[in-house]
Amino acid sequence: NGELVQWQGELSPVVSPIYIRDGEALQPVVLGHTPLLDADTALKALDSAVKAYDLGRGAWPTMAVLERIQHVEKFLSLMQLQRAEVIRLLMWEIGKTYPDAAKEFDRTCDYIRDTIEALKQQDRDASHFIIEQGSLGKIRRVPVGVALCMGPFNYPLNETFTTLIPALIMGNTVIFKPAKYGVLLIQPLLQAFLQSFPAGVINIIYGRGRETVGVLMESGKIDLFAFIGTNKGASDLKRMHPKPHRLRAVLGLDAKNPAIILPDADMARTVKECLAGSLSFNGQRCTALKILFVQQSRAAELVDKLSHAIGELKAGMPWQDGIAITPLPEPGKTQFLTELLEDALSKGAKLQNPGGGQTSASLFTPALLYPVNSSMRLYNEEQFGPLVPVVPYNDINEVIDYVVNANFGQQLSIFGQDAQQVGELVDIFANQVGRININSQCQRGPDSFPFNGRKDSAEGTLSVVDALRQFSTPTLVAAKYQ
Ligand code: G3H
Repeated sequence: NGELVQWQGELSPVVSPIYIRDGEALQPVVLGHTPLLDADTALKALDSAVKAYDLGRGAWPTMAVLERIQHVEKFLSLMQLQRAEVIRLLMWEIGKTYPDAAKEFDRTCDYIRDTIEALKQQDRDASHFIIEQGSLGKIRRVPVGVALCMGPFNYPLNETFTTLIPALIMGNTVIFKPAKYGVLLIQPLLQAFLQSFPAGVINIIYGRGRETVGVLMESGKIDLFAFIGTNKGASDLKRMHPKPHRLRAVLGLDAKNPAIILPDADMARTVKECLAGSLSFNGQRCTALKILFVQQSRAAELVDKLSHAIGELKAGMPWQDGIAITPLPEPGKTQFLTELLEDALSKGAKLQNPGGGQTSASLFTPALLYPVNSSMRLYNEEQFGPLVPVVPYNDINEVIDYVVNANFGQQLSIFGQDAQQVGELVDIFANQVGRININSQCQRGPDSFPFNGRKDSAEGTLSVVDALRQFSTPTLVAAKYQ
């Protein structure tokens, strides 16, 4: 409610995935602590947001759009002063390389600027009247209410802010719970929030899910749930809301994005895109390529070139130059990846790159596995890490069946040069996934593009313009003039 609360209760250590050497042993680094709020404190934050919204009558939801924009502009200018510190924390908390961390910060600032411009344009358009069959109407976009925004550890700034900023700028009041890893990097921004927004408009909470967001959901006072993370996390929380039909959800969830490599694919380009698509940020992107289907006639060539390319990748610390593979922030992740790897090996897949799949502290070297088949866990399970499964196919219908029957439907990539065949596949897949990439890896960016998915991968669409719609609702004011 517009003040920093000195928390006297339980704290949780924030442990870096980066280990330091202490004699013979490698020791994890404790970077700081975050409060583990109790339910009462979380409910106080909710109370502040509810009061500031005041059933849509509060100063923030009724403020003129251009005035609200000024608050966000002020936030942006203060946020930019914290660039170096946020980047440093992105490296230490989640192991993101310096270039990737800097890119995440800068693209987030660009997103905020683009959102401001889009809203100014929308505000100009809103002055137009609709004249139809004797009625004169005007559409007013109003906020949805109290929004709960939660983001993932892999893009703790960008993904979170692509919900938080549209929620705020459209006049909702917000409760924001930072990601579990990538949590400290919000600290340098607290003063920017405090100085830019009126009391109660943005309320930041920390702690265990059950005691914090669980009680918020159970209160029935959350109107908008913006969540980027796992299906389980989203559905567990949604289920707690007593009136789920009154809860607007904007969700970005799990994915298992396939690459489909056709017989005439340009192999140099395919390898470059599949390498980046599968292994950027250690494969910890919801948009990563998580399974590669290659036509049997090109399989040996793909595997050979890709294993060489993977062999060139250097593992190390995020601040070192030329590093691609860095420590993984989720405890237990290397164990999970090892289990998936061993499952595939035990069922006939071969490790194609020497030294792949090795664990050292929280580092896991990337592993290329071929041939992968439907009996293996890696065929359907999301690895969210540096495992690259390659599946050979004879008939394209095998891959079509995979996509059509999959639980997830975020994106896919098609690599091929025959425009006719690629076009036919685009027609087949257009209602299966949210984005089809031709001769390029899957990705969210540019952030102005629609970002969504089908089936269990998403609910709602995020982009600059779509988010403004998603975080508001149109009210028509109409009068008969005849
Ligand atoms: O994890 C999902 C991110 O939104 C990925 O963004 O594909 O543009 O790197 P990106």
